[in-house]
Amino acid sequence: MASFGIDDIELATTHYALDLEALANARGVDPAKFELGLGQTRMGVPAPDEDAVTMAATAAARLLERTGTEGIRQLLFATETGVDQSKSGGMFVHGLLGLPSNMRVAEIKQACYAGTVALQTAISSLVREPDAKVLVVMSDIARYELDSSGEPTQGAAAVAMLVTANPRLVEIEAETGMYSADVNDFWRPNDSTTAIVDGALSLTAYLDALMGSWDDYRANGGHDIAEIDRFLYHQPFTKMARKGHRKLVQHAGGEVGEEVLESSFTYNRVLGNSYGASIYSALAALLHHEDDLAGKRIGFYSYGSGSIGEYFTGTVVPGYAEHVHVEPIQTELATRESIDFDRYVELHETVLPSGTDVETERVTTAPFRFSGIRGGARQYERTA
Ligand code: CAA
Repeated sequence: MASFGIDDIELATTHYALDLEALANARGVDPAKFELGLGQTRMGVPAPDEDAVTMAATAAARLLERTGTEGIRQLLFATETGVDQSKSGGMFVHGLLGLPSNMRVAEIKQACYAGTVALQTAISSLVREPDAKVLVVMSDIARYELDSSGEPTQGAAAVAMLVTANPRLVEIEAETGMYSADVNDFWRPNDSTTAIVDGALSLTAYLDALMGSWDDYRANGGHDIAEIDRFLYHQPFTKMARKGHRKLVQHAGGEVGEEVLESSFTYNRVLGNSYGASIYSALAALLHHEDDLAGKRIGFYSYGSGSIGEYFTGTVVPGYAEHVHVEPIQTELATRESIDFDRYVELHETVLPSGTDVETERVTTAPFRFSGIRGGARQYERTA
């Protein structure tokens, strides 16, 4: 039987970035708390003409420039930063990218876990239609109240992945473990632009779902921890992956140190939390920064508050290094415009009323922008 998994991957983030040192200084916090205590140094901040749709379209366009659109039968858009209560953010992306009409487009939500639903759903559908391709896009902007405990863990990014049979990067293995529990650790009411979080509960919910999903993974024939070479975790802040790894190693009787996590932090440390995109940004970082992964098994722990964890594995395909493209995201990260604390606060406090016609300030240099609201409908344009 054919194998299924990730054939190509791309990332995108915001025009602006805020240094966490500037945030720490403004808040009267020791900068070491954010850098060492949370493992974060910068965060992505959206410009007024950026949102989850523009980042998703940018990441997907970079990927499609290489692969073309032939054979793509679905666009699954995973987000918890939805721009409309009814219309899928994926439909805006479909329009911006000029994708064919003979395809399925939908949005999936379950906090930071939705990207994994999209990936697994894509694979399940390919079992029935192996010649098809699925474009999976995860895109999120993490926003908490100003001066809240979550504030230094804000951020933004999108990841686009082409999911196919006989993939060139990572084959996803069939064994998987799940753990769901109704917990109020983190949520965002429909009328709120910021998430509400019970910080302490969110940490235990994350770790409980890790243990639960790992146990289910093993019960379903999953590999011994000694057979896993690299470990990816959902990274709300990179230190959380260390906490999870320590707990898993202790629980599963492994002896794998934290050094195997390092390369997976490269992007998320400067992007901040990108919710559903986070673990797949970690995957891209791993593939972009290690060149001897062929045949290695990767463990994935995907977590979404509310709460669900899924543990699954994938193996890196020999020859993968010829199909990773570090340049777009690394150029973007190097050229983000740094903003000061006052501009960050101003942007954070600006919330557009959905019922009034409005045009957004022209800032982003990305190929897609959110140009405003007309008649209650969001307007987007392609600029390049
Ligand atoms: N130098 C170095 N380290 C320092 C320090 C200093 N001066 N001061 C504090 N620290 C360390 C602390 O010791 C602590 O480290 P450990 O966790 O290893 O003990 C770390 O910095 C953080 O300090 P606090 O625990 O005091 O931080 P806090 O209570 O202000 O905030 C938090 C922590 C609750 C996680 C907060 O960042 C938050 O609310 N984040 C949003 C929720 C979140 O990300 N939860 C994660 C799990 S849920 C999830 O994963 C889904 C999702 O994406 C949201």
